[in-house]
Amino acid sequence: MASSISTYALLLTFFTTLISFFFITSRSKQKFKNGKKLPPGPRPLPIIGNLHMLGQLPHRSLSNLAKKYGSIMSIRLGNVPTIVVSSPEAAELFLKIHDGVFASRPKIQFSDYVSYGNKGLGFAPYGSYWRTVRKWCTLELLSSSKVELFEPIRRREVESLVDQIKRAAASGQVVDLSAKALELMENFMYRMIIGRSKDDKFDLKPLIQESLRLTGHFNISDYVPFLAPLDLQGLIPQFEAIREGCDNFLEEIIDEHQQDKHKGQKKHRDFVDVMLSHLDQPMNPNDESELHIIDPTNIKAIILDMITGALDTSTVAIEWAFSEILKHPRVKTRFSKKS
Ligand code: HEM
Repeated sequence: MASSISTYALLLTFFTTLISFFFITSRSKQKFKNGKKLPPGPRPLPIIGNLHMLGQLPHRSLSNLAKKYGSIMSIRLGNVPTIVVSSPEAAELFLKIHDGVFASRPKIQFSDYVSYGNKGLGFAPYGSYWRTVRKWCTLELLSSSKVELFEPIRRREVESLVDQIKRAAASGQVVDLSAKALELMENFMYRMIIGRSKDDKFDLKPLIQESLRLTGHFNISDYVPFLAPLDLQGLIPQFEAIREGCDNFLEEIIDEHQQDKHKGQKKHRDFVDVMLSHLDQPMNPNDESELHIIDPTNIKAIILDMITGALDTSTVAIEWAFSEILKHPRVKTRFSKKS
C-alpha cells in the first residue's frame, strides 16, 4: 500500500513538473515568436492551448474574448497558433492588404487523405500551383462563356423538375424540395464537370456529403499533431473509406474519358478532357523554378474539389432561397404572378 502511494506521489510530482514546464514554455512562446510579439490573448493551457475556451458556440465565445483582448487576438488551438480577427478594419488588413500571407487554408488531416496530399484547389497552399489550377478551373468551368454554354442544359433540367413538381402538386403528393434541389444540382454538375449524365453506377453524393461532414468534424490530430499516430477518435478508417470510394469513382471517369478519346467518340471536350490534356505535361513550362509535372493524382484532386465545391453550396443556396420566399408572402405573390 505504502509503495503504491509513493508511486502515485512520484507520478503526480512528475506530471506536475511536466505540466508546469509546458505551461511556462507555452506562455513564453505565446509572447515571442521569431523575436516578435504576438497580439494579446488568453493564457493557453499545456497541450490543449485555448481549446477549452471555445465552448458549444465558438463564435460567441470568441466574440466575448475579443471584447477583453481586442479585435486582433492571439489564441492557441492545441499546438496551433491562431489569430482571431473581429472588426472590419482588422479583417481588411488580413483579407485585403496582406491577403497573400494569409491566403492558404490551414492543413487538415482529412484533406491530406482525400485530396491526394492537398493537390486540389481547396487545400493546395497559395502559390504558383494553386494559381495555375485556379486559372484552369475558371477558364474551363466558371468563366461567363462556359456558364452560358451550359445554359440549355440548366434550362432543360429545371423545366423537367418544374414539370415533376406540377404533376406531384396536381395529384396532392408531398415533394421534398431539398432532395429535389440536390438531385438537380447533381445532374448539372455531372454534365458540366464530367460531361455525362448520372447513372446508378456513379453515386458520389453520399461520399461527398460524408466528406463535407468530416471536413468540419473536430479532429484532435489537426490541433495536437503529435497525437495523430494514435488516432484517438478512430477517424482514419473513415477517411480511408471515403478516399477509396472517391478514388474508384474518379478512376472510372478517367478511364471512360480516355477510352472515348481513343475511339474518337467525343464531339466536344468536357472539363475532365481538358484536365487530361495536361497529363504528364509540365504545369508552367516557362517557369523552370516551378516545373511541376501533372500526374493522375493532380487531375483527380482537381475534379473532386470542383464536384465537392459545387454540390452542397448550390443546393443549400436553393433551399435558402425557397425558405426565404415562403417566409415573405409579398415576394411569393410576385413570383407566382411572373411564372
Ligand atoms: C451558391 C453557390 C456557391 C457558394 C455559396 C459558394 C461559396 C464558396 C465559398 C464561400 C468559398 C470559400 C472562398 C474562400 O475561401 O475565399 C468557396 C470556395 C470554392 N468553391 Fe464555391 N460556392 C458556390 C458554388 C460553387 C461551384 C458551382 C463550384 C464548382 C463548380 C465551386 C467550387 C469551389 C471551389 C473549388 C472552392 C475552393 C477555392 C479555393 O480555395 O481557391 N463553388 N465557395
